Amino acid sequence: MTTPATYRELNGVDCGKAVRARIAEAAAQVKSKRGHVPHLAAVLVGDDPASQTYVGSKVKACEEVGFRSTLVRRPADISEAALLELVDQLNNDPAVDGFIVQLPLPKHINEERVTLAIAPGKDVDGFHPQNLGRMMLGLPGYLPATPNGIVELLKHYQVPTEGKHCVVVGRSNIVGTPMAILMSRNTSPGNCTVTLAHSRTKDLPAITRQADILIVAIGKPNFITAGMVKPGAVVVDVGIHRVDDATRKKGYCICGDVDFDAVAPACAWITPVPGGVGPMTVTSLLLNTLKAAS
Ligand code: GUN
Repeated sequence: MTTPATYRELNGVDCGKAVRARIAEAAAQVKSKRGHVPHLAAVLVGDDPASQTYVGSKVKACEEVGFRSTLVRRPADISEAALLELVDQLNNDPAVDGFIVQLPLPKHINEERVTLAIAPGKDVDGFHPQNLGRMMLGLPGYLPATPNGIVELLKHYQVPTEGKHCVVVGRSNIVGTPMAILMSRNTSPGNCTVTLAHSRTKDLPAITRQADILIVAIGKPNFITAGMVKPGAVVVDVGIHRVDDATRKKGYCICGDVDFDAVAPACAWITPVPGGVGPMTVTSLLLNTLKAAS
């Protein structure tokens, strides 16, 4: 006999739809008031299948909310100088409100140099140090897409955060570190006491078991197991992996950083993978593009 599930899903597809409906209304207003259609450009270098999928979903999402989108494709052997030249063109193109350069880039290109070259006013990924610094100080700017998408998800489902202990696992520049800052700010959602755990953290299970809200962005499939989560916790899984699985027709399954089947029954709330954080990252990018166009 299986135990009936008591957890609730933080569903990024449903939440994304609700937020996108509001974005579409706002985009229609920008168009009727100023005759301008918000315009996102995405640069895709090479033909990495995962990056193609991500960029494809970003372009599709633009269509859905009535934005204009431009996909700029370049071969994997483009020189760094030529890519920087393209970034400069987009920085200076008045028809483009905001743009992203999909990561990762081929090894011969320095990602930091490319990120720094994007004009902060068009950096709708929120990766530029100026935007990250503004976020740190609580000043207006572009918030990094994935952390802000998670904030939107918690807001949508009215998950209480004030005074809670939030443990973030993973300290990347684009997810873990900004996530920890957003959850500690004097905002709602926010006002958490935050622990940022990483690869050198000692006795990680003892730390994760203290989490009222556990946000996992470690990039390892099924890394968080049942014994690492406090009963009644809110679990947000940023990971997305394709793992070989001979029992599936396709020969693989999609899983996150959290062993969902083992962990979910003990949770109050949990994000599914796919359909949790992923759609919210795209939605957050649209929010930033709308801001850029407004
Ligand atoms: N690669 C993985 N996630 C992202 C993202 O949010 N933005 C960009 N530009 N590249 C990514």
